[in-house]
Amino acid sequence: MKIDVLLGLQWGDEGKGKIVDVLSPKYDIVARFQGGPNAGHTLIFNNQKYVLHLIPSGIFRENTINIIGDGVVLDPVIFMQEVSGISKAGIDLTKNLFLAEKTNLILPTHRILDAANEKELGKSKIGSTGKGIGPAYTDKVSRNALHIGDILLQNFKEKYENIKQKHLNRLKTYDFDIDEYETKWFAAIDRLKEFNIINSSNFFNNALKEGKKILAEGAQGTLLDINAGTYPFVTSSTVSTAGVCTGLGVAPNKIGEVYGIFKAYTTRVGSGPFPTELFDEDGKKLQELGHEYGATTGRERRCGWLDLVALKYAIQINGVSKLIMTKSDVLEGFGYFKISERYKTNKNKIINYFPNNLLNIKPVLKKFASWKDDLKKCKSKKDFPQELQEYISYIENETKVPITIVSTGADRNETVFC
Ligand code: IMP
Ligand code: MG
Repeated sequence: MKIDVLLGLQWGDEGKGKIVDVLSPKYDIVARFQGGPNAGHTLIFNNQKYVLHLIPSGIFRENTINIIGDGVVLDPVIFMQEVSGISKAGIDLTKNLFLAEKTNLILPTHRILDAANEKELGKSKIGSTGKGIGPAYTDKVSRNALHIGDILLQNFKEKYENIKQKHLNRLKTYDFDIDEYETKWFAAIDRLKEFNIINSSNFFNNALKEGKKILAEGAQGTLLDINAGTYPFVTSSTVSTAGVCTGLGVAPNKIGEVYGIFKAYTTRVGSGPFPTELFDEDGKKLQELGHEYGATTGRERRCGWLDLVALKYAIQINGVSKLIMTKSDVLEGFGYFKISERYKTNKNKIINYFPNNLLNIKPVLKKFASWKDDLKKCKSKKDFPQELQEYISYIENETKVPITIVSTGADRNETVFC
């Protein structure tokens, strides 16, 4: 058996949570391999809306085991809040949610450091979600972090105090109070002990030997990847397929299908380049019709047309074998929409690759007629309006990857398998 992967091909918020929830009945195990509470995965079913930050989106399926893998950074307070919310739906999470022992903990001071870093950057700030992600991964790479497995150690508190002291030294000139959060944090640490804490690599490799079907659920999107993304306006983890190997402890030859998910247009939260961004009425319309507000921070998402150059780049980085298009319903009734087929540099050169420096890059746009029909009525690809069928063929032809799912709305049921 191999591990299938589902990840975002843009700047996040492509609708991963919904699609994982739809696909999860096919899988025995769903695992998060990177990121942390910066993620916001929205699921809607039975007229109920759930937003998940740390817990994998397979959690609402009775027979699915959900894993938070080594590559994740976990804030115990946010985690326990999420656990409480989901427990109300009658799910006993200590049975179907396991934590990997090398998952890094986000400390209360990491959140303060995140805010301090952003303040120091001033106008060049990243637009971080403020959840302590960057500082937590920084501590991991500088060999300074606490793992979930450490909570069982006798000297856990001492280790915590040592790291906290380093943070306090760095934050000397800042005024802040973490007492209340720290108390909640230690209470949440105690409750983490109720969960099954596993060795990630052994767990996944044994599960594969036993023939279990596993889905790795990405958070954020490829263009926010620490290596491949629009650096420095990125998150601090390996968002791409490579992160599944390091984040779960499995070898590259264990990767199976790679589902790459993209919106029929593009959005971005936070700062950084965005070649197809719209500043006009069309941008506002996309934001309104698409309800483009961050699920974690509530911030307005920047909106623009689909960027085919970036999409092809993300497909290349991840080895995408199947595409999934979401929010196609937002374009209905728009009259038209556009796609960036190529880029133009400030020297008027046309390029068809994703450059390292996107400054002064302009999109070369192609216009398409959009559809008027209500896509929610479509049950299969043949029900799709002609314009949507042509759009799908165009993307498949350009990317050489088939589109296998089209999402036509936020609800679990508004999903067409092609
Ligand atoms: P951080 O991950 O909180 O450090 O934020 C770094 C950048 O990634 C900011 O521009 C955030 O808005 C963006 N970001 C982080 N997580 C997500 C996400 O789940 N969806 C969309 N954007 C995100
Ligand atoms: Mg999101």
